[in-house]
Amino acid sequence: MQPDKPEQFSLTTITLHWLVAIGMIGMLAIGIYMTEAEVYSLYPWHKSFGVLIIAFVVLRVLWRIKNGWPVPVSQYIAIEQNLAKAVHWILIIGTVLMPVSGALMSALGGNGIDIFGLELMPRNPDPENPGRVLPHNGDIASFCHAIHHWLGYIVIGAVILHIAGAIKHHVIDQDATLKRMLGARRVHSE
Ligand code: HEM
Ligand code: HEM
Repeated sequence: MQPDKPEQFSLTTITLHWLVAIGMIGMLAIGIYMTEAEVYSLYPWHKSFGVLIIAFVVLRVLWRIKNGWPVPVSQYIAIEQNLAKAVHWILIIGTVLMPVSGALMSALGGNGIDIFGLELMPRNPDPENPGRVLPHNGDIASFCHAIHHWLGYIVIGAVILHIAGAIKHHVIDQDATLKRMLGARRVHSE
């Protein structure tokens, strides 16, 4: 696999970035909608896509470790560079902790996990009331639920800052930051 070059990102970086980005934005939107509107039929879809995303997230994190972080297109002021770096860290940690906390919350809470109808972890029905479930470890499940809830809002804030940054580079700085993530080669220094 080709490493990233300052003037052009590898296909691996670009493909993993957009797959995980679209997946995360979709999952954040579905997660909030299904809980707020109490659309329980969406829960199995949310869980299935969430577990699927873990595979791409693991690949992406391994790729970041091997390849390092992207080199900024231009020399921005220190505060902007540090903010971008902090946001990238929140986003990459969020892409790991959101699906992991979701899976642990469902598994340890006794609700089980199916991935597109295939049972990964069975429900744990309460023998006295089979319509309800018994948690395997209620404390850890509640802790993971809290992480899933609050980190979700932190990641949404980071995604908004991240998109604002991409638009700022494209529209105000008019540099190649966004175009590079869309696959373009930077032909001259900007
Ligand atoms: C429409 C939405 C998005 C746009 C326009 C966008 C754009 C970009 C751009 C232009 C870069 C390159 C920054 C650089 O060269 O320094 C980048 C990097 C990055 N983006 Fe996004 N992004 C979006 C959504 C997301 C989402 C939803 C996530 C994660 C939840 C994410 C996570 C990252 C991370 C971790 C990096 C660092 C490089 C990497 O690991 O690939 N992005 N993004
Ligand atoms: C890709 C990563 C994921 C993202 C970004 C995500 C995001 C969210 C968000 C934002 C909510 C609404 C939280 C709230 O308002 O309390 C939510 C709820 C939920 N998520 Fe996820 N999720 C992901 C993966 C998963 C996975 C893998 C599972 C389980 C296997 C899962 C299970 C759930 C459940 C059961 C709820 C409903 C919680 C409730 O009823 O209070 N999520 N998710």
